[in-house]
Amino acid sequence: MNTDQSKEIAGFRGMVIRDVEGKPKAGFEQLTLSDLPDNDVLVEISHSSLNYKDGLAISGKGRIARRLPMVAGIDLAGTVIRSKVDAWKPGDQVVVNGWGLSETEWGGYTRYQSLKAKHLTRLPTGFSPAEAMAIGTAGYTAALCVVALEDWGVIAPGAGEVLVTGAAGGVGTVAIALLAARGYTVVAATGRESQHDFLRSLGATDFVARSALAEPGKMLQAERWAGAVDTVGSHTLANALAQTQYGGAVAACGLAGGADLPASVMPHILRSIALIGVDSVMAPAAKRDRAWAFLDAHLDRAKLAALTTTSSLDALPALADAIVKGETRGRHVIEIA
Ligand SMILES: NC(=O)c1ccc[n+]([C@@H]2O[C@H](COP(=O)([O-])OP(=O)(O)OC[C@H]3O[C@@H](n4cnc5c(N)ncnc54)[C@H](OP(=O)(O)O)[C@@H]3O)[C@@H](O)[C@H]2O)c1
Repeated sequence: MNTDQSKEIAGFRGMVIRDVEGKPKAGFEQLTLSDLPDNDVLVEISHSSLNYKDGLAISGKGRIARRLPMVAGIDLAGTVIRSKVDAWKPGDQVVVNGWGLSETEWGGYTRYQSLKAKHLTRLPTGFSPAEAMAIGTAGYTAALCVVALEDWGVIAPGAGEVLVTGAAGGVGTVAIALLAARGYTVVAATGRESQHDFLRSLGATDFVARSALAEPGKMLQAERWAGAVDTVGSHTLANALAQTQYGGAVAACGLAGGADLPASVMPHILRSIALIGVDSVMAPAAKRDRAWAFLDAHLDRAKLAALTTTSSLDALPALADAIVKGETRGRHVIEIA
């Protein structure tokens, strides 16, 4: 057993969701180590991040926590300070993305967290803790989507245009930067014309208005996309499928526009189009390692910096409201230390 008993740890602040008259309500609380769950590894957290799911959890717009009380925050990066297992030692730098954080496991909006050893990933080489959180769940999901499309064999440089929906958001911006680095022609679907220049700077070469994809469309439409990364769901996903070229695929990871899928089988049975579902939360370690290696190899660090905003814990309530309303841009790092 590796321990570091020398460090005295006083109280610290965390964002805790509690049941208040039958509804989840988030607020800052003073915590001590004895409040934390009895897990294998104690991590001192330096950074977390803001994702759409965090917005739902903090604003109360979605029931993310499945047991209460719950410390919110689906991402964290930090340093191991105590460990009951040989695999992790004090001083090891780690990240956690998903694995039920903020749902069934206490999460990252706190200075210290006690975590299950199996949920820890070594801080990926090539990234600082702050950069790993600038990527966070949204960015690593973008990598899962691009890797999934490439594995399917439907996109290759010169193959045609690749659509990214919810383009100015966290998943969308990282997906654009990755696809552009791989040499694809990237078309951004966004509801914000004001972000066109920014999205162009990340690698988008053309734009589709969010509204053009948001309405019900024909089951089969003119074939345009070699592939697509969809973060929006609902009619947007249905239209993306209906507009994909013969043999193409859409990697679907999000529901910013709705959780329904009002689509037909026609694109699948007449054009051999694949709908690839992408989950980051319970993705096995090997898939995560591959996504992080892909990010290390292909994510332009200057673009990552340009799409990232850094805020303190205090900013969380306002940021949570903003991300749920679709008003934030790119990725948000939350500084904890
Ligand atoms: N499957 C997984 O494991 C996984 C992992 C991460 C995220 N997700 C999901 O992926 C989605 C995006 O996450 P994110 O972190 O990128 O969120 P985000 O930063 O809020 O980005 C979502 C973007 O979608 C667009 N949008 C917002 N509201 C919309 C609406 N009503 N209709 C159509 N478009 C809308 C906006 O882009 P524009 O202004 O450019 O239109 C917004 O910036 C969320 O649903 C999230 O839960 C899933």
